[in-house]
Amino acid sequence: MSASDTQTKIAFLRGLRAVRTFRPEPVSQEALDDILLVARWSGSASNRQPWAFIVIKDRAMLDALATKGYAGHLTSAPLAIAIVMDGEAGRQEHEIWDEGRLAERIMLAAAAHRLGSCIGWLQGDGINEAKELLGVPAERRLRTIISIGHIDEPAQRARPKPPQARKPLTELVHEERW
Ligand SMILES: Cc1cc2nc3c(=O)[nH]c(=O)nc-3n(C[C@H](O)[C@H](O)[C@H](O)COP(=O)(O)O)c2cc1C
Repeated sequence: MSASDTQTKIAFLRGLRAVRTFRPEPVSQEALDDILLVARWSGSASNRQPWAFIVIKDRAMLDALATKGYAGHLTSAPLAIAIVMDGEAGRQEHEIWDEGRLAERIMLAAAAHRLGSCIGWLQGDGINEAKELLGVPAERRLRTIISIGHIDEPAQRARPKPPQARKPLTELVHEERW
């Protein structure tokens, strides 16, 4: 791999940001298939793959889910993937880790198709209400729904820019010891 290929890949990984405003056109089946393929191949603790995915395109359902947590971005997304975890007793810590890895992979696969995405976390009563809406069995754990769609570039550019979107490495990295 050439140095410029490497830099292209690093820029792709570094550049992943939350996108909360989407254009209305649908996500292609090809892109969705790729996203699900990458999701399927996510690593998980002991390779248990404790997850299932609900692909949601129905406008009324997306709008209803948008009210169930910090997920207002679902109102402009043409597609969302809800992550349903097994909810196995005693494995919550493992499943939370696995879910985080999975969510990031879904977002990266979407980005590979130049699609934007954003995590939405269900909150409070919204968790059970969303499970009811989606027909998720009570014993399963549902927390995360990811909006996916074509990026509304003007809205993305216009979003408020914090002076420093990330902490500097000098604050984060310790050499050899804390
Ligand atoms: C565990 C987790 C939960 C998140 N929950 C939400 C959420 O409920 N709603 C939302 O709009 N964004 C959510 N986000 C996205 C974060 O707000 C976003 O990653 C962070 O603000 C950095 O934004 P940037 O990627 O645009 O730099 C979540 C991210 C993570 C990792």
